[in-house]
Amino acid sequence: MKKDEQIRLLKLLMQRLDDGTNVDAGVMLKNPVSVYTCPEMAGQEQDRFFRGYPQLLGLSGDLPEPGSFLTTNDFGVPVLATRDVQGRFHAFLNVCRHRGVTLETESTGKRRRFVCPFHAWTYSNEGALVGIPKQEHFGKLDKACHGLIPLPAEERYGFLFVHPDPQGELDIDYLLGGLAPEFESWNWQELLDIGRDSYDMPLNWKLSMDTFGETYHFTSLHKDTLAQNFYGNVQCYDTFGRNHRMILCMKSIDELRGTPEESWGISQGSFPVYYLFPNVQLNITPFGMVMVRAYPDPTDPGRSISRISFYARAAGRSSDDEPHSLDQGGRTPRARRSRRDRAEGDRPFGTRFRSRGLHPRRPRRAAPLGNRNGPSGEPRCCRRRLREHGLPPGSRRRPSTRARRLDDLCTLLGDARRGARPAFRA
Ligand code: FES
Ligand SMILES: [Fe+2]
Repeated sequence: MKKDEQIRLLKLLMQRLDDGTNVDAGVMLKNPVSVYTCPEMAGQEQDRFFRGYPQLLGLSGDLPEPGSFLTTNDFGVPVLATRDVQGRFHAFLNVCRHRGVTLETESTGKRRRFVCPFHAWTYSNEGALVGIPKQEHFGKLDKACHGLIPLPAEERYGFLFVHPDPQGELDIDYLLGGLAPEFESWNWQELLDIGRDSYDMPLNWKLSMDTFGETYHFTSLHKDTLAQNFYGNVQCYDTFGRNHRMILCMKSIDELRGTPEESWGISQGSFPVYYLFPNVQLNITPFGMVMVRAYPDPTDPGRSISRISFYARAAGRSSDDEPHSLDQGGRTPRARRSRRDRAEGDRPFGTRFRSRGLHPRRPRRAAPLGNRNGPSGEPRCCRRRLREHGLPPGSRRRPSTRARRLDDLCTLLGDARRGARPAFRA
């Protein structure tokens, strides 16, 4: 993101904080219930928005090295994505050309060859058919005509895009609607895949996306988590073709007041969230990204699955939105914040990364829970979790990785589970 845009957005947030205003749509929209429940509409969405529309398969870090592969059925067709020995990204229908069996059943891994479990036809990770047991029994068969069916696929700005239709068109710059230069500046091709979660929920996929679209609910639904670090109901909003961008306001923005604007970085006082049509959210953390994708159940408009993917920058790397000026003590803003973070205690997103030694700002050795910032010494993000486990405040029990991720995301889908789940079904 360009420096002048970062400053513009941060100043706009400050102004809205001071004025007690927020971005205003100027109108109240009504959405009929049938949008979330109609089976016919759900079928059309599946055909037009998923099977018939370019999809974000993941980030470059999901195929980290030559030979890496991943598979998915989320788009309505089985997809196999690979990185060949030259490092090039490919995508294919994950279907054997002999009798149509699913070729690769693992979700991720590393292979040079893919062997069909049925009769062992073998394909390279470039999609070529390279082996047929007892080929002489098939008469004249040209292997070159029976490779895996390729899908339009392109790796750009750290994204892996694929079109689930072999005849589909993939125009990434058009899809991004003007966001390409901004995305390029984030250097997301450097992000590492550090884990993922899935939530199969009884709610329409659009409702799952809708609940992320505002910060109005922070001070009520997320009062123990997000509201600790964010000002609710203050944000910036811009559209880019079919996509949009929200800039959420963090309480740390107050620390920027009175400091030189040229030293500001967007992540110091705000939290950018990009929405890519139709179903992708990119939550930009100071450490990397949390990508959320919601997919409809192919037969039930009242069900969806949300995929959460966590990415982090390798230690020592930074996005270019971060200013690198030194302060009078010769410390970078990162170092200054590191001191401040340690002084103030932990923050929700930090726990996961510190435990993996991935984040340069944080001490590699986890501080004992008793040193953190709850009234009894436990971290704020763990207090609710401790209560749920029936443990007394101050307990040193460490929540499970899954529980910490939930806290880190501030119960991303908790809105739906607790309050926003529709009281109706199709
Ligand atoms: S179906 Fe794959 S080898 Fe026969
Ligand atoms: Fe929320």
